Amino acid sequence: MKNKFTKFISLAFKEFTVGLKLFSSQSARRKRNKPQYFNPWVTPFIGEHVSLQNTLLDCANKITIEDYVFFGHDVFLLTARHDYSKFLLQRQKTVISKPIHIKKGAWIGSRAIVFGGVTVGEHSVVGAGSIVTHDVPPYSVVGGNPARVVKYIKKGIIV
Ligand SMILES: CC(C)(COP(=O)(O)OP(=O)(O)OC[C@H]1O[C@@H](n2cnc3c(N)ncnc32)[C@H](O)[C@@H]1OP(=O)(O)O)[C@@H](O)C(=O)NCCC(=O)NCCS
Repeated sequence: MKNKFTKFISLAFKEFTVGLKLFSSQSARRKRNKPQYFNPWVTPFIGEHVSLQNTLLDCANKITIEDYVFFGHDVFLLTARHDYSKFLLQRQKTVISKPIHIKKGAWIGSRAIVFGGVTVGEHSVVGAGSIVTHDVPPYSVVGGNPARVVKYIKKGIIV
């Protein structure tokens, strides 16, 4: 009787430890394979009298949109990028982000894309479809890919 009971206990224990090992190796594999996106989601700052039309704010870093700024349709503000010196899941997981600052009164045309690290100066204009990779000087009109200054604006006059 005692012998049968000991056998039963040791068998049950063996099954239990095998099950435990299986479970822990499965959960470790699941953990390893699960993409881990670094996504702190920083709350953007949006000033007064701001108008956005179907805008994508990628808030992996601070986005500041000052007063009287207005956007055309489908503008993307992309604060984040991936580290392409890495491969496969490492590339997916490593996120590098920089802030974006759109200063007072700027107008961003439809379908423009602004990258992280860019400041768009006050009262400047970003032409439709532009890809903005560098800072935009204040009172300027920029356009193209990459966006370049096409003209400057004086109050009431286009220079
Ligand atoms: C920015 C904008 C207002 C500039 O208009 P503009 O002052 O009449 O500009 P011009 O037509 O005189 O263009 C000046 C130069 O910049 C270039 N340019 C103007 N807008 C451009 C743009 N979006 N992308 C690339 N180049 C542009 C022109 O080709 C021209 O170059 P060139 O001198 O070599 O010929 C206009 O191009 C624009 O993008 N409008 C956006 C409209 C919009 O998004 N509306 C949505 C509702 S908010």
